[in-house]
Amino acid sequence: MAIQWYPGHMNKARVQLEDKLSLLDVIVEVVDARIPASSRNPLISDIVGDKPHIIILNKADLADPNEINKWEAKLKSDGKFVLKLDAQHNTNMTPLFKLIKLAAKERIDKLEAKGASNPTIRICLVGIPNCGKSTIINRLVGRNVAIVGDRPGVTKGQSWLKTSESVQILDTPGILWPKFEDQAVGFRLAALGSIKESVFHADDVALFVMEYLKENYFKSLVKFSRLTEQEVTDLPLPELLLAMTEKYGMRDDYEKMSLFLLNQLRKGRLGRINLEKVEA
Ligand code: G4P
Repeated sequence: MAIQWYPGHMNKARVQLEDKLSLLDVIVEVVDARIPASSRNPLISDIVGDKPHIIILNKADLADPNEINKWEAKLKSDGKFVLKLDAQHNTNMTPLFKLIKLAAKERIDKLEAKGASNPTIRICLVGIPNCGKSTIINRLVGRNVAIVGDRPGVTKGQSWLKTSESVQILDTPGILWPKFEDQAVGFRLAALGSIKESVFHADDVALFVMEYLKENYFKSLVKFSRLTEQEVTDLPLPELLLAMTEKYGMRDDYEKMSLFLLNQLRKGRLGRINLEKVEA
């Protein structure tokens, strides 16, 4: 059965974005590079339609470099403009500005043909909560905190943030809610803190992550577990979780251990890990 969470929010976000689309030249969608499919809302492509569409694979510093490259290639082959980014540590936004201008080339050419010089391109950032939209906006805006007013007769009370380039950003990012087609999507989002932990039990999410790590990042799991390779291989997952709980001196508090594991995973302490790979 398809589980649909936050349908109210999702519909509201869709309507709001559709409303603003005519004001925008480029849509910049931010996704979490560790879960590039699960952190997208499938509606976005329908909403964006023919508008130039950039996808930022953000938090690239935490993701598996091999996997990000595969995702980048896949999304590019789907006709998207794609950029890998670590918005937290990287202050150089030149590649993103360049990509925005490349995506808006048709529009820029059209305006220049009408006599405009260096025309302003208007963009909006969209994405699920916690994927890094605000961080990227702050990076793009830098010290140019000035908010510019409306485009007369066209905008409906929108404010635009100036940047050092001829690019302006809608002051509020569009929040898209993820869509849970299956439980695995929900687990991935919960594992990385994109949805409230209370939606799931932490130990269920931790077991999901451990199963994935055992298959895909075995060495990282062994190192984190403080157990031997043999133990990690042989123990059924719930027993493995209990053994780790004991090793970490948490007695039988496997819930505490589960939260600790998830917390460390989110911070990149288990290494650069993707919870989602491009399907072959
Ligand atoms: P949002 O607007 O899409 O909701 O996301 P926001 O920019 O607020 O970023 C959410 C968290 O992710 C922030 O951490 C931010 O510093 C971090 N973040 C954003 N981009 C990157 C990135 O490229 N790499 C890394 N490692 N972190 C990034 P926070 O304020 O500490 O929040 P939290 O960690 O407590 O959730």
